[in-house]
Amino acid sequence: MDKLEQLRTECLGCQKCGLCETRNHVVFGVGNPDAEVLFIGEGPGEQEDLKGEPFVGRAGKLLDDMLSIIYLDRSRIYIANMVKCRPPGNRDPLNTEQAACADWLRRQIEIINPKIIVCLGRIAAMAFIKPDFKITKEHGQFFTDEAGRSVMALYHPAALLRDPRRRPETFEDLKRLEAEIRSRCAHTY
Ligand code: URA
Repeated sequence: MDKLEQLRTECLGCQKCGLCETRNHVVFGVGNPDAEVLFIGEGPGEQEDLKGEPFVGRAGKLLDDMLSIIYLDRSRIYIANMVKCRPPGNRDPLNTEQAACADWLRRQIEIINPKIIVCLGRIAAMAFIKPDFKITKEHGQFFTDEAGRSVMALYHPAALLRDPRRRPETFEDLKRLEAEIRSRCAHTY
């Protein structure tokens, strides 16, 4: 078994926080284990919890549409969440739950070793870019993390469903992401 599958198997039995008692499925992640581009969401909702796969509800449909604008699909990238189990009633994950879960994503990143990380929404951007990240001002900008990876944030697809006026800006951000992929990545396109 490869390293990512080994990690998934370990993660499926996780009992590091109370969310293990209410979950239907651990939502580990989906996509290409050799992906050069990793998308990071916040955490599973109801549909994701039922299916065990990230972004399968309405926001997921929009994410697929966003990917197709830049000629990508789930087989070319990898998608994971900061928190692997659904907080009941879709409440925000507690700090203790986020802290208990962080090591799974850290190990996923280590194995996949992407060149570009795309944060979906403010919460992931605050964790992976900077704690005072302002999504309305800094979406679409590229930052470099301590491992030399390019990191950027897009508006979360759920936010784009709530406020479609943000979609033109997101189109521009996606085009910037496409250019970054073309300049940094060897086999995504
Ligand atoms: N929102 C997220 O952040 N992640 C999912 O998997 C689904 C919705």
